[in-house]
Amino acid sequence: MGKATQDLRKEHDAILYILRILDKMLEPGNREPDTMLRYYGELVDFLTIFADKCHHGKEENYLFTRLVEKGIPNEGGPVGVMLMEHAEGRGYIAQMSASLNSRDIGGFGAAAVQYRDLLRRHIAKENDVLFRMADQVIGEEEQAELFEKFEEHEEKVIGHGVHEELHARMDQWAKEFGVEES
Ligand SMILES: [Fe+2]
Ligand SMILES: [Fe+2]
Repeated sequence: MGKATQDLRKEHDAILYILRILDKMLEPGNREPDTMLRYYGELVDFLTIFADKCHHGKEENYLFTRLVEKGIPNEGGPVGVMLMEHAEGRGYIAQMSASLNSRDIGGFGAAAVQYRDLLRRHIAKENDVLFRMADQVIGEEEQAELFEKFEEHEEKVIGHGVHEELHARMDQWAKEFGVEES
């Protein structure tokens, strides 16, 4: 497994962990609506920054463009499908945010379930198909170069301090909602 795909797989694990926390947050509980709106708002911020800007940014700006250069088809091929799913995910995130702005917990839940299901399917496809293809066509040295670009991208969109903060927040939610890290 190359260094670049390995980094993205590690981020998939973090995203899947967040989705398990989201499952718990969506279960009917006895928390006040205000409390849940606050948790959901923080979760949307996390998904926007970590899953979309950072992770999908690494894929779209570096890995996918490299795959297309290597002859893996974009439109009508696996890269195009992944890009469409990223766009679909952004649509759900926008719906989740809009629901929170109008304090519509039901609307938030409906969009969150679609987002969650999409991302789980998407991650499985990348792990099982696209990243395997990537490991076949992108050699170790080139993967190490891509990894350097990922690090720069991460520093630009998140920054080291915020990254730590996000992970600390994630562990706090997990504790509050009783989710074990796998
Ligand atoms: Fe992706
Ligand atoms: Fe991904």
